[in-house]
Amino acid sequence: MLKIGVLVSGGGTNFQAIIDAIQSGRLTDTEIVTVVSSNSNAYALERAKKYNINTVCIRKTDYETDILYQKALIEHMKRTEVELIVMAGFMVVLGSLFIKEFENRIINIHPSLIPSFCGNGYYGLKVHEAALKKGVKITGATVHFVTEETDAGPIIMQKAVSVLEDDTPERLQKRVMEEAEWEILPNVIQLFAHNRLKLTENRVKIL
Ligand code: GAR
Repeated sequence: MLKIGVLVSGGGTNFQAIIDAIQSGRLTDTEIVTVVSSNSNAYALERAKKYNINTVCIRKTDYETDILYQKALIEHMKRTEVELIVMAGFMVVLGSLFIKEFENRIINIHPSLIPSFCGNGYYGLKVHEAALKKGVKITGATVHFVTEETDAGPIIMQKAVSVLEDDTPERLQKRVMEEAEWEILPNVIQLFAHNRLKLTENRVKIL
């Protein structure tokens, strides 16, 4: 059984997609042992409570330094024996201490086809605003391993979504979630749980 810890900041629809995949049997041998939120008002916390999943709110602003914040996160992940960390709409950039501690065991979902519209400043709705502004015809979502450079870690899975002429950032965000994010995030966890991801020199092979 793979023990996962999910990092959230907001609505938690990607977190819900993981729960749904476990409940439907599409995602097997996986257990969500904790949900960590960066924000005490995150609706994701309500979702977790409905399923009796352990929740905790760990806020950067509650710590004197970033290192102390990272240490608190590491300690919590270790205490709950998390084996894979899933950033599911987590809006905090994690520092190198945390990332090194869980090297190749942190994944993130990003709402674009990386390397487009990613990196510092590109998160949530801003990503879709930028895609519409650029006039791209295709966007999508990416799941990747997390390394120190924001959104630059090895790409595991991507799915494309067409941009429609009358799209607004909100409409595009919704379709990217429905058509791509909620599908590829549980799929990647399923592959990880069954040791089917092989990472060699920044490239991920699916076995
Ligand atoms: C999702 O679209 C996710 O890909 C994005 O924020 C949204 C969170 O929604 N994440 C990022 O932009 C991270 N850089 P959710 O809370 O409903 O899962």
